[in-house]
Amino acid sequence: MKGVILAGGLGTRMRPLTNVTNKHLLPVYDRPMIFFPLQTLVDAGIRDILIVTGGNSSGDFLRLIGNGSAFGLSYVNYAYQKGEGGIAEALGLAEHFIGGDKVAVVLGDNIFQDNIAPHVRAFERQREGAKILIKKVPDPERFGVASLQGGRVTRIEEKPRRPKSNTIVTGIYLYDSQVFKIIKRLKPSKRGELEITDVNNRYIQQGQMTYGVLKGFWSDCGTFDSLLRSSQLIARQKKRR
Ligand code: DAU
Repeated sequence: MKGVILAGGLGTRMRPLTNVTNKHLLPVYDRPMIFFPLQTLVDAGIRDILIVTGGNSSGDFLRLIGNGSAFGLSYVNYAYQKGEGGIAEALGLAEHFIGGDKVAVVLGDNIFQDNIAPHVRAFERQREGAKILIKKVPDPERFGVASLQGGRVTRIEEKPRRPKSNTIVTGIYLYDSQVFKIIKRLKPSKRGELEITDVNNRYIQQGQMTYGVLKGFWSDCGTFDSLLRSSQLIARQKKRR
């Protein structure tokens, strides 16, 4: 399976921190944010990785990560997203790289404590479709909220004002290569983006979506508070070790 890290977008919610750099290069305690999703993929046994970047500091990713030797990789692939047309648009840029393979997609601002290898192995055995990883959180209205019924995900609502549950979709998506056909048929949402939730709802309608549950700490780093929380968790983990 190949891996894609989505680190495009302009990080406008994090200004002024992102005025002169990319959100994914900001520190989470002792490392740049992008190191975490990269380590998550490497720990899952994925070696063939593409990083989608954007904005003005994309060259800094190359300077920071290079061929990925600090992660035991011999090469890393890079793609560039102009502007911020959405998570699904950024993933669309990986089509040539993925070809007919399956893909593990990680959002560049997500921090996972769990090793996702068991979920990746389970998806390798899944004949077709997609798999998401879900988690209960206290603030579901900030995320894609999942409705579950009879062991299946029946619908995902993006940032609903009144969430139907506190179970949310984290930023790891496992897809078969149909995903690129689905992305090409998407229409921009009200906020002008191609939404990953629309991709996931398409797989749900096709009856091809499975899910796994994360046990450990998970957070995004897309707000000042979640960035602080993530830094504190990593600091605690490091000191315990
Ligand atoms: O963190 C999990 C959540 O991520 C999910 O629960 C939501 O369903 C999903 O839509 C997403 O929500 P956010 O609003 O937090 O996504 P955000 O716009 O912050 O983008 C997350 C990452 O995706 C960002 O760090 C980089 C990448 N991205 C985003 C956009 C808009 C791109 O690469 N290109 C883009 O154009």
